Amino acid sequence: MALAEGRARFAVNAYFGLMHRLFLAIRPPENIRDLLVDAMDDSPALRWVGDEQLHLTLRFIGEVERPVANDIAASLDRLRSPAFELRLSGVGKFERRNGGALWAGVAPKEPVAALAAKVERALQQAGLEPERRVFAPHITLARWNRRNAEAVEAFLRRNSDLHSEAFAVDRFILFESKLSRHGAHYEEIAGFILT
Ligand code: 2AM
Repeated sequence: MALAEGRARFAVNAYFGLMHRLFLAIRPPENIRDLLVDAMDDSPALRWVGDEQLHLTLRFIGEVERPVANDIAASLDRLRSPAFELRLSGVGKFERRNGGALWAGVAPKEPVAALAAKVERALQQAGLEPERRVFAPHITLARWNRRNAEAVEAFLRRNSDLHSEAFAVDRFILFESKLSRHGAHYEEIAGFILT
């Protein structure tokens, strides 16, 4: 794929299999990731996310074939959106039937929601079905099991005032999630610059 003035770097060679499990995310800078890793305690009841996996999902895409991945990258390459700032703000949990996720929140929500909305339009232009779920920006820190609800509540109490300085969001990333017996590994497929 031709590079549009260096905006996107689409590593077509990264593809080997037939289907690709993709998602779009913001990667927090190192100082913010350090702060998040420091908040993780050594509770064995919680399955903590590794530093290399920390991200804020803008849109989960799921399994697509390579031509669709190319269409997605081309459509996102045409997206224009301003850079903005975020800061960490609080923690929370998602609850599903047998467990859930622990996450760090971000503020302000408007600029990241505006970017997610533009991303959504770009994906629909590339032929994807609309995302029906409400966008709730968060950075997942751990997965938990229903048996360990007390460790979850202890973490939430201890970190209720988690916050950071503002950090710049000037790009977002198309990741491929590769599942192995060691867990999920996220590979950067393309980067898109916000200006
Ligand atoms: P998360 O953003 O809450 O951590 C890759 O799987 C990423 O996409 C994960 O970060 C995951 O959750 C997010 N995601 C959002 N919707 C998903 C879905 N339906 N299935 C798997 N992952 C999803």
